[in-house]
Amino acid sequence: MRAAIVIGMALGAEAFSARRAPMTMKTAAKSSYKITLLPGDGIGPEITQATVGVLDALSKKTGVTFEFDEADIGGIAVDNHNDPFPAETLAKCQSADSVLLACIGGYKWDNNPRELRPESGLLKMRGSMGLFANLRPAKVIPQLIEASTLKPEVLEGVDIMVVRELTGDVYFGKPKGIEERNGERVGFDNMIYSESEIVRISKVAFDVAKARGSKVVSIDKANVLDVSQLWREVVTTTQQEYAPDVELSHMYVDNAAMQLIRWPKQFDTIVCGNIFGDILSDEASMLVGSLGMLPSASLGDPSSPGVFEPCHGSAPDIAGEDKANPLAMILSAAMMLKYDLSQPELSDMLEEAVESVLDSGIRTPDIAAEGQTPVGCKEMGEAVAKAIEKMPAPVTA
Ligand code: IPM
Ligand code: MG
Repeated sequence: MRAAIVIGMALGAEAFSARRAPMTMKTAAKSSYKITLLPGDGIGPEITQATVGVLDALSKKTGVTFEFDEADIGGIAVDNHNDPFPAETLAKCQSADSVLLACIGGYKWDNNPRELRPESGLLKMRGSMGLFANLRPAKVIPQLIEASTLKPEVLEGVDIMVVRELTGDVYFGKPKGIEERNGERVGFDNMIYSESEIVRISKVAFDVAKARGSKVVSIDKANVLDVSQLWREVVTTTQQEYAPDVELSHMYVDNAAMQLIRWPKQFDTIVCGNIFGDILSDEASMLVGSLGMLPSASLGDPSSPGVFEPCHGSAPDIAGEDKANPLAMILSAAMMLKYDLSQPELSDMLEEAVESVLDSGIRTPDIAAEGQTPVGCKEMGEAVAKAIEKMPAPVTA
């Protein structure tokens, strides 16, 4: 376990809180934060280490301190505790200001029964921490536009936020199971949403949209599914009552899958249920070119910690080889600073540091173009840390 890192506070962190806070952000900034790290499996420990190095550099520059603790999730938690999200991990997450998760999964656990699979740890974490809102940005990075399989003119300027409901729908709906009926086995799950679940995720989406382009597209399959019909009705009334100034339209999920590839620039904020969001967010991520660049935030009640994690998996094929791209986790830390820790200036500093590193042509293998010599995970983390060191210290108000 990593020792607590506390660096003396050079600047009043409160000074940073003056800027407009995004919706789910907690109210008051602090000078020191407790962060629980969940390195997980595969490349997880490497990208976590790189991210901690970057946060340390940010501490030195700003005086805002981070105290890190570590806990097991996923396959390593199955190995150590016979549970992919053990009670002690939940306790460590709940006692922190925020949680940074790397990634989970690996061949080793692929044939385990469902409750002992790494993915079950993720679902258990989401359910037990009440993380009902998942924010997955897909913002095209100009320096990497060539990495996408789509044409540059389709991608230039794409900036989408997928707001995915994360604790309901067919993922958690009951009844579910496999049983014998009329001499054969049938499998079933329940696609179910209550009004209150739809209202709370819609409000998050409207709040997110207000800080962006004020346009929400709500995704459903209301031409076929009753649950979607309710979804559409409730999203519409919530908009009328809660966010009349936000533009709302509705789109069937199959059409949305097509429109995302045809003309992604038409989207600003997308709100959807759990399963549609799972699928569409993977699709949207490919607009950016590499999964190695995509952060995400999972948020619940503002009084409890959120979980911030890259969208990519644990890449067991390159684990331990210093080939992973730590940028998605570093950008997840930037989301954490913005959405959970009321430190938007520090968040901007992290994003700017990543941008300047990309500008200077430093690339990990997954995002290297022809002729570019790739660097390893460690070196990429150090490059971002150095970029922070070179920045001017933030000015107090
Ligand atoms: C995701 C993943 C998870 C999900 C899996 C690993 C359970 O695909 O975070 O999108 O389906 O939600
Ligand atoms: Mg998924």
